[in-house]
Amino acid sequence: MASATVTVDLVVRDLLHEDLAACAWTGTPTHLRYISAALGRRTSGAVDYLAVCGPSDLPLGVGGVDYRRRPDAGWLWQFVVHPAFRSCGLGTLLVRAAEDRIRQRGLAHAELGVDAANTGARRLYERLGYRVTREQDEEWDDIDAGGRVVRRRSHCAVLRRTLPPAAA
Ligand SMILES: CC(C)(COP(=O)(O)OP(=O)(O)OC[C@H]1O[C@@H](n2cnc3c(N)ncnc32)[C@H](O)[C@@H]1OP(=O)(O)O)[C@@H](O)C(=O)NCCC(=O)NCCS
Repeated sequence: MASATVTVDLVVRDLLHEDLAACAWTGTPTHLRYISAALGRRTSGAVDYLAVCGPSDLPLGVGGVDYRRRPDAGWLWQFVVHPAFRSCGLGTLLVRAAEDRIRQRGLAHAELGVDAANTGARRLYERLGYRVTREQDEEWDDIDAGGRVVRRRSHCAVLRRTLPPAAA
């Protein structure tokens, strides 16, 4: 077995419609449609949608901020990092970039929902300063392995962080 340490430059930029062909790894076809719909809401200012990219400029991780869901906070959602690149800090980079966007809107809080079973993601967000404020049930449509539309349900913890002022 050979091993090496490679340093790469990463950029966080807006996710574009033309990136979606390279985002099949993010989930089901339904999930890609949700992302496409979210990108459509960006023109009205309702969302930001970010991608972290390596030197190829292909998305290695994506995530959105919804500004319509909460009156005083940006809502982080649909955060996912390519499985091959997890635990390298990309998720942390994306969350911090999303928080910068929220600050630029003049908002001082970020919120997100984590499925009760997703203990790994919750641990990461708590490490990044997020704290549980409440619990709630979420429902959404998905497509199962047989191509059928199914209603998914999830019990989520809602986590919130008061954002410190941007570093000078
Ligand atoms: C949740 C998710 C987005 C996090 O992305 P990620 O790129 O793995 O996140 P990070 O690498 O920043 O941090 C994850 C872990 O790696 C560790 N880590 C961070 N930088 C690291 C580095 N340079 N080297 C090694 N480990 C590192 C973190 O401490 C964290 O550890 P923890 O799990 O014990 O808390 C990713 O796991 C994912 O896509 N999961 C599936 C979808 C999902 O659950 N999304 C969240 C919905 S709320």
